[in-house]
Amino acid sequence: MTKTALFKGKDYITTQEWTGAEIETLLEVSGDLKRKFKEHVPHRHLPDKTIFLMFFDKSTRTRNSFEAGITQLGGHAHFLTAEVMQVSHGESPKDTGIILSSYGHGIAIRHDLIPGEGNSYMREVARWASVPVINMQCDVDHPCQTLADLMTIREKLGNNLRGRKLAVTWAYASSYAKPLSVPQGLIMLMPRFGLDVVLANPLEYRLMPETLKAAQENACAAGVKFEVADNMDDAFRDADVVIPKSWGCLDTMGTKPEESLRIAKQYRHWICDAAKMKLTRPDTLYMHPLPADRGNEVTDEVIDGPHSVVFQEAENRLHTAKAIMALTMADGNIAYDA
Ligand code: CP
Repeated sequence: MTKTALFKGKDYITTQEWTGAEIETLLEVSGDLKRKFKEHVPHRHLPDKTIFLMFFDKSTRTRNSFEAGITQLGGHAHFLTAEVMQVSHGESPKDTGIILSSYGHGIAIRHDLIPGEGNSYMREVARWASVPVINMQCDVDHPCQTLADLMTIREKLGNNLRGRKLAVTWAYASSYAKPLSVPQGLIMLMPRFGLDVVLANPLEYRLMPETLKAAQENACAAGVKFEVADNMDDAFRDADVVIPKSWGCLDTMGTKPEESLRIAKQYRHWICDAAKMKLTRPDTLYMHPLPADRGNEVTDEVIDGPHSVVFQEAENRLHTAKAIMALTMADGNIAYDA
């Protein structure tokens, strides 16, 4: 069936601000764009449009999915870092938002490492911008990642996820103190789409209380479960999907990120290995937003094994990023097959 949709000018800062029906449309358009990409069908929904990509942190998937995506949609991206912008000399989010709006058609921002800063920064840009602002990961949510994750889970398990169990767990990493926004985004979004969610983390790696509250409320509204455990085994037991990944300590992430790595050393056993996967269901999906800290967060045997869908998950970042840009930045309705 051919449908049309447009969310022109709507910011995509957290999934919480998008209705279930709107997220369904994002997923339908993502699926349509994926098919067209694979079949080499042109889908230039954004001819001559410009998006500004502002990065306060590093990226492989997010940067390249947005850059490749806008090109495939007929537009162009400016890759910007805080260091090359006057942001580094203190230019305000208000002035940045007004000025970039006058040059183009969308602003996307990654600002994820300091709790209390990134989400507020992008909301201030959005307050003054006259074009949509897209969250490419902040301290609270990573809505581009969680949308791709939901798309991947549905591709594998179908659209009816009721009765299925998702384990979102902390895992040990030595590489860097990773943002909290992926687990927070997952626990908020996934109950809305029917998954029972169990979160597990060591005491020191608690998430922002407001995201736990939102997860609980979303689960209640959807009639599904949201539970918290203090060990990986309980979370993994009989899970249909597992997403074990590292994140930093909320209290010290912004000021002493090395403290997160020091405390983490006592939790080296929080690794996703074959023994942990044996606790899950036979066809369980192993997922990770990547980059994965191989040998610490997960063994090669698991991430390269039959349960793993990490490369499909990463690929879906392209199709979902394109859907978000197309639906928020186009001038007229997007026609798509659902
Ligand atoms: N998952 C994710 O956001 O990857 P990047 O940090 O490489 O963008």
